[in-house]
Amino acid sequence: MKAIRIHAYGDINQMQLEDAPIPMCGPGDVLVRVVAAGINPIDWKLRSGVMADNLAKTFPFTLGSDAAGVVTAVGGAVSGFSPGDEVFFYAEFARGGTYAEYLAVEATQVALKPRTVSFATAAALPTPGQAAWTALIEVAQCTQGMRVLIHGGAGAVGSLAVQLAKQHGAHVTATAGTADLALVKSLGADEVIDYRTQRFEQVVKNMDVVLDTLGGVTQEASWSTLRAGGLLVATTMPPSPERAAAAGAHGTFVFTPPRGAVLAQLATLVDTGRLRMLVGQEFTLADAPLAHRLGETGKARGKMVLHVCSPDA
Ligand SMILES: NC(=O)c1ccc[n+]([C@@H]2O[C@H](COP(=O)([O-])OP(=O)(O)OC[C@H]3O[C@@H](n4cnc5c(N)ncnc54)[C@H](OP(=O)(O)O)[C@@H]3O)[C@@H](O)[C@H]2O)c1
Repeated sequence: MKAIRIHAYGDINQMQLEDAPIPMCGPGDVLVRVVAAGINPIDWKLRSGVMADNLAKTFPFTLGSDAAGVVTAVGGAVSGFSPGDEVFFYAEFARGGTYAEYLAVEATQVALKPRTVSFATAAALPTPGQAAWTALIEVAQCTQGMRVLIHGGAGAVGSLAVQLAKQHGAHVTATAGTADLALVKSLGADEVIDYRTQRFEQVVKNMDVVLDTLGGVTQEASWSTLRAGGLLVATTMPPSPERAAAAGAHGTFVFTPPRGAVLAQLATLVDTGRLRMLVGQEFTLADAPLAHRLGETGKARGKMVLHVCSPDA
């Protein structure tokens, strides 16, 4: 099969389209023909080596963690899936490799693809969807009237988080760039703040929850927007416990293993018209390096997706 692999950490020149063996389907696995692979910021962080201390890789290593595709084989211990099922998933980093024509993935990490969207759109959901769900629904336990600030409201995680928080009755304030303010409002945000022209910490106060998808100076400035005892949930940079204590607040980092059960709930929301993904530029598998280059510049609008195989191959 064809796969985009790296043989060492580095820039996009390390990304090689090459032949690789089709993975073995273990007893608890499904083997999936990948139709579309979603691209996440962590893909270029893993490629470059900046995450090598936390997620060390052995080479060659196939990039990518999100995908939608068709089951071609199931392991002997798997009962919930059959060949021909259309599925989507977020593959464990230890196994990695959705920038490839086939992937064996634990059946517990897989869910049936939302029926109402394309493979490319479904592939945009797993990692950001699970992060947004974990942060807002499971960790922050978003409820009616909760005041939530979501940073990066037009991003992959932020756009899903805005929709999930709103559905759970929260009052949602979101930050976004000038060109995305109307879009973020259309997703359900009650208030939007243009991060290019306004300092959010000057206009936002008494938040119950902040979802920080940016880290750095954004995380630091977010502490002052929380009420006493409020919660900052981060997806990029773990909050310092000392900083949280100084602010009289709590901080936590979300990074959870793939869970098919969460994806199944997200698929239901998609199929009932309550959750939409913002898909941006689409690329062929061979053009994955171009997608990484665009992503690393921060100029990609919407979620980038790779087309890998035909669903009928
Ligand atoms: N821990 C986890 O489980 C997990 C899961 C998924 C993602 N993540 C991490 O979460 C982060 C976000 O991921 P993503 O996929 O949502 O990225 P993304 O799609 O690139 O979204 C980032 C968004 O942030 C906006 N932005 C940039 N600077 C901003 C600022 N100063 N204030 C407000 N918004 C700003 C960008 O807008 P512009 O277009 O205007 O630049 C963009 O819309 C990444 O670091 C990723 O690695 C973690």
